[in-house]
Amino acid sequence: MDKTFLMVKPDGVQRGLIGEIVKRFEMKGFQLIAAKLLIVSKEQAEFHYAEHREKPFYGELVDFITSGPVFAMVWQGDDIVTLSRLMMGKTKAVDAVPGTIRGDFSIHTGMNLIHGSDSPEAAVREIGNFFPPEELVAYERAN
Ligand code: CMP
Repeated sequence: MDKTFLMVKPDGVQRGLIGEIVKRFEMKGFQLIAAKLLIVSKEQAEFHYAEHREKPFYGELVDFITSGPVFAMVWQGDDIVTLSRLMMGKTKAVDAVPGTIRGDFSIHTGMNLIHGSDSPEAAVREIGNFFPPEELVAYERAN
């Protein structure tokens, strides 16, 4: 089953949007298999954002993601990497269309509420950065 790593960023937690965001993925039909509220460590942030190390905003990225609690999650379902990114909306604020999470709730490119893995390979790496295998819960769903 396809899996992805989704994380409500510090701005989403501060704004009380965890429930709204979780609801959207539940109602879409995806299955939540792990979740926790945590403060991201500097080491976790540097690993998570390794591909952005050379970007001018890298320092801001690490500072922001470690600035307060995040809500880290693992979800599964068919084509979840692609579909979850469609539901999140584009990274750049002006491209995030209404109907998406960012399009409905954010006007910022940096403070854009949610992170989602951009490939199945990234999902494996990102899940491993936040969840030991025993924290992924396997269960059958009725629907
Ligand atoms: P995300 O896709 O979760 O991971 C990379 C993040 O970099 C992205 O979300 C944005 O929050 C952030 N980002 C991308 N472009 C910029 C930018 N020009 N300035 C600040 N942050 C950015």
